[in-house]
Parts: sequence; C-alpha cells; structure tokens
Amino acid sequence: MRNRFKGKDFLAFKDMDREEIEFLTDLSLDFKRKWTAREPHEYLKGQVWAALFEKNSTRTRNALERAAADLGIKIVYLRPDEMQMTRGEPLKDTCRVLDRYFDGLFIRTFGHEIVEECSKWMQNPVINGLTALAHPTQGIADLMTIKEKKGKFEGLKVCYSGNLYNVCYTTMIMCASLGMDLYIACPEGLEPDAEIVEETKRRATMTGAKVVFTQDFDEALKDADIVYGMSQYSMGQSEEEIEYLKKAFAPYQVTMDAMKKAKPDAIFMHCLPAHRGEEVTDEVMECSQSVIFDEAENRMHSIKAILAAYAD
Ligand code: CP
Repeated sequence: MRNRFKGKDFLAFKDMDREEIEFLTDLSLDFKRKWTAREPHEYLKGQVWAALFEKNSTRTRNALERAAADLGIKIVYLRPDEMQMTRGEPLKDTCRVLDRYFDGLFIRTFGHEIVEECSKWMQNPVINGLTALAHPTQGIADLMTIKEKKGKFEGLKVCYSGNLYNVCYTTMIMCASLGMDLYIACPEGLEPDAEIVEETKRRATMTGAKVVFTQDFDEALKDADIVYGMSQYSMGQSEEEIEYLKKAFAPYQVTMDAMKKAKPDAIFMHCLPAHRGEEVTDEVMECSQSVIFDEAENRMHSIKAILAAYAD
C-alpha cells in the first residue's frame, strides 16, 4: 500500500487516471474500517510534514491534523504571515528550504500554479489542500461517500448547483473518469476553465459519461441520484462579484421542493461550509437525505489514505 505513488505529488484529478482515483477511494474506505475497528495504523511514524494554509479551513486542516496523528506523523503548521515569503522571499527558495526539513508539504493556496511550482522545487511529496482549480482531497472524500451510500459510480446521475471553481472542476473530472453523468445547473455567462472542460470531454468519451451545463435546474434535478450543493461564490471574491453571483444563482437554491425532483432515494452532498438560505435551505441541510457530516468525516479518512499512498 505505501509507496504506491512514490515520487509523485497529489495536485489535481486531471493529473490522475481512473485507476489511481479508484485506488485512493478504496484505500480511504479501508482506513475508515481500521478507524471504526480501532485498529492502530501508525504507518508513517517518525515523519514530519509542513502544513501551509494561505486560506481559512475547518475541515481540511483538522482532518489533516487528526489523520497525521493516527499515522504517527507530526504536523508543523506554517503561518505565511510569519514567514519571509510574505516579505518577498521567492517560492522556489522557500520550497527548497522546507524540503530539507520536512517529509512533505500539505498546502492550501490561491492559484494552481503555486502548487505546481512547489512540486517543481520539492523532492518530497506535495499535497494540494485546495487551489482555485482543484480540491482533490475533497474529491476522494466525495467518492468515498458516494460509494458508501450508493455502492457504485457507473450510471449514477449527479446534479451540481453552485460556483464553477475548484470543487466543480474536481467533480467534473471525477464524474467523467468514473462514468457518472453530471448536470451542472448554473446561470448563463459563466466561463468554466477551458483546460478542465477539454480534459472532462476527453475522459467522458472514454466512459460514456454525460457532462452537461444547463440553465434548467429541473433538467439537472430530474432523476438525480446525488444533489451536490456548493457555495455560489468563492473565498477572496469582491463584494461586487459576490452580490452578482448571489443574484444569478438564486434560482438554483437546493430546497426540499428541488430535492423532490430528484430520485426518492437521492442524497444531498455539500463540501461545507454551507451558506444556509443561499445555495441551500436549512431544511435540506438537516433532512434525512443529507449526508454532509458523513462526507465531512470522510475528509479525515481520505487525507489519511493520500498521505499513506504518497509518502515514502
Ligand atoms: N470543504 C472544505 O475544504 O472545508 P474547509 O474550507 O473547512 O477546509
């Protein structure tokens, strides 16, 4: 199990094939089984990793801390505002220094080119804890949750409602790779990343998955197995952009009426944090179809699997 991805980084699903994505999902489920059975799994005892978060986090950071503790890894949490990088030290110098001290870097940052730059300058593994383009640790937790609740991927229909950034892009590649139909309900005029759209199309051709952008929420919801809600905007956007997106996305709020248009056994997923009353109602968050806290728990099991698979 360990060394499965030695020498590689974990930056985005677009860099991974179907077999790798499925391997990590199954490994995550196995770590959940070990956790539930209270089986010790200190497989990386003695390792020390750096965690650099340039954005806020509740789930990713705490899931990482707990996953690392169970694996025997010590995490050194780095605050960018206390480092020389915020006073102009080049990233390539910072990376080469951190590489001498730590067994790996877990990083949440802004542009995807930042994690690619880290990957270029570090010998030890780099794990992406969220960039503008990708949220792959979330993606593995989402796949775990789907497998637990639905028992399969192929043939499922996912209705996604929310912003067209990292989680959406990860979900696009994930669905196209694993044969799930994805209907993205969104207002017109939003431009998804062209490279992600191309890669999604390429993978969808191989699996037969449909990936459809639609302004018609009912079309997206009809017979969906999974309704995935997501914030209408993203961290760091201007007040003006946020106001525009809130208005544009208002017709796509996930309500109990919307859930009734999906299959009767449809599940509701959300990566959290949610803005209750914006992209989703309080009632949906709390309803019996909502699996949001299982999904949040799965962040811990999946980060554990990723650390174990990518570390030496
Ligand atoms: N889903 C997610 O990434 O949550 P945090 O921002 O709290 O880490």
